[in-house]
Amino acid sequence: MLPSIGRCLSRRLRTPPAPELRAFIVRNTEPVSEHLSPEISLRLLTPRCPFWGRAAQPWPFGDPYWAIYWPGGQALSRYILDNPAVTTAKRVLDLGSGCGASAIAAVMSGATDVLANDIDPLAAVAIGINCELNKIPPLRVATENLIGKMEEKWDVILLGDMFYDEEIATDLHNWLTKYKRFHGPEILIGDPGRAEFTKYLGQDWLKKVTEYELPASTKEENYGLTSSSVWRFL
Ligand SMILES: C[S@@+](CC[C@H](N)C(=O)[O-])C[C@H]1O[C@@H](n2cnc3c(N)ncnc32)[C@H](O)[C@@H]1O
Repeated sequence: MLPSIGRCLSRRLRTPPAPELRAFIVRNTEPVSEHLSPEISLRLLTPRCPFWGRAAQPWPFGDPYWAIYWPGGQALSRYILDNPAVTTAKRVLDLGSGCGASAIAAVMSGATDVLANDIDPLAAVAIGINCELNKIPPLRVATENLIGKMEEKWDVILLGDMFYDEEIATDLHNWLTKYKRFHGPEILIGDPGRAEFTKYLGQDWLKKVTEYELPASTKEENYGLTSSSVWRFL
């Protein structure tokens, strides 16, 4: 997923205190608004940042998924910003929130309660920074694994680029099927056509909502992907 710095980064040496993490994130990212939702600024890892394209060794944390605005999340945020009725006055869960963009889009589109959920503690800090950048109050963030949990009732569940490997795709499909039957939320999936997602296409639980072209100038950041779509889990 992260061809330049991925794979070797799957190690977490330690989790330093939040101010140290904050400083690390600010030092190694830059504010960006060149993506599908330019009304949201995000601190991201770009080709101009020190770690871009470098060997993973000096990077002290796990894979920096939170430092990338994935095409699936971009499509999802664009859709929410253009169709605020989807989240207005709703309780919204952004599962696998990463940089927090889709959760921020939900707040900007009138959601009353938004939980940004990501198991990476660095994502939680990055989400806080991105809230400040967009002058919105800090989001509620949870770092526990909510896949499989049925207790809390959400009106809307957002999943940006979460079908990235077989294990998580299967877990999500099983849980979402059960959760939809039990609580009946609106479930929206943003995906640029990853293999672990497209294997489900044609099945009757999935309906395409819309497709967006990604900005041509960000081809490098998007690893060559040119479009991304939003799907409803029926
Ligand atoms: C490909 S990124 C997508 C980030 C964001 N949704 C976007 O589209 O920009 C996947 C994210 O899911 C998070 N993640 C992986 N497994 C998770 C789980 N079980 N629960 C919550 N987040 C998870 C990772 O830490 C990572 O930030």
